[in-house]
This record gives sequence, C-alpha cells and structure tokens, in this order.
Amino acid sequence: MSLLIEEVSVIDAPMELLLLADPSEANIRAYLSGAKCFVASSGADVVGACVVQSRGTEAYELMNIAVYPAHQKSGYGTALLMWSIDFFRNLGARQLEVGTGSFGYQLAFYQRHGFRVTSIDHDFFVNNYPEPIFEDGIQLFDMLRLTLRYAG
Ligand SMILES: CC(C)(COP(=O)(O)OP(=O)(O)OC[C@H]1O[C@@H](n2cnc3c(N)ncnc32)[C@H](O)[C@@H]1OP(=O)(O)O)[C@@H](O)C(=O)NCCC(=O)NCCS
Repeated sequence: MSLLIEEVSVIDAPMELLLLADPSEANIRAYLSGAKCFVASSGADVVGACVVQSRGTEAYELMNIAVYPAHQKSGYGTALLMWSIDFFRNLGARQLEVGTGSFGYQLAFYQRHGFRVTSIDHDFFVNNYPEPIFEDGIQLFDMLRLTLRYAG
C-alpha cells in the first residue's frame, strides 16, 4: 500500500468524502473554516480525508475522518489516523480529541490507537442534526468524547 498524505486548502476539501462521516454539509462547512484538511491518495485516487481543528493551546480535535467505501478495510483509515496523531505530536500538541457515536466499530478504531473515553455528550446527535441518524439500524443519540493524551 503506497499512500500519499498531504494538507490541502479547506476550499479543496473533498465534501463528498467528508459527508460519509458527518451527514450535515452545514456542520462540515462550519468546522472546516479555520481547520486543517488532509487528503490521502493512492496513485491518482483520493481514498480518504480528515479534518482537524485547533482547540485552544496544545489541543486539537479530529472533526472528521473518512475513507471511500470501496477502499475501506484496506488500512487507509488507520494510516491516516496514525499520520495525523504524529503530525499533531510534532506540532507540540498535548492532546488530540475526537467525538464519535456511542457504538460501532469506530470506537475500537480510535481506542486501538490510545484514545480513551473522557465524557459523554448526551443527545448530541438529536440536538445538532435536523434528521435522526441511524447506524446499523440503531438511532444515534449520544456522542462519546475520546481523548488521546500525548506522553511526556
Ligand atoms: C472509520 C474509517 C475512516 C476507517 O477507515 P478504513 O480505511 O476502513 O480503516 P482500516 O482499513 O484501517 O480499518 C480499521 C478497522 O476498522 C474496521 N472497519 C473499517 N470499516 C468497517 C466497517 N464498515 N464495518 C466494520 N468494521 C470496519 C476494520 O476492519 C479495521 O478493524 P481490524 O483492524 O480489527 O480489522 C472508515 O471506515 C470510514 O470512512 N467510515 C465511514 C465514516 C466514519 O464513520 N468516520 C468516522 C466518524 S467517527
């Protein structure tokens, strides 16, 4: 697997891809402003992307990470997550946060890389989206907030 990961201007953020992780284009546009967007390409194909926002001093939040369905389960998401963890460590971050649904494989995806659950945002998905969101036939209500604290 040869993967090129590079920062792109948020104007060039691949919206279609980001919508896989967040169904609200309005929400995505709001957090894209002032964020960093990274795109992962395999050869000529964009396969994945992520968006990270600054959260005050030395803290960042992964707002969105997505890989096209045809390319999922090939290791690209893991490579992009690990690359982002290293990128913000090298920028001097003390922690990287992420919010995700309260069930599903994404929870294992983050915790495998050292993220720990730090709080629950009850009813986040009903309060912040106009339509109910379902995954695996189950309605999403609560957001778990996870934090990766960088050592030393
Ligand atoms: C989350 C996501 C970015 C992971 O990217 P990926 O390229 O599929 O990740 P990897 O190939 O590195 O796999 C990471 C793990 O997730 C699992 N996984 C990935 N997609 C999965 C799916 N649709 N169903 C179940 N498990 C899945 C893989 O099997 C792997 O687990 P393993 O190591 O135990 O085999 C990608 O699945 C995605 O875009 N999902 C939709 C958007 C989304 O939910 N984003 C996160 C919002 S919090």
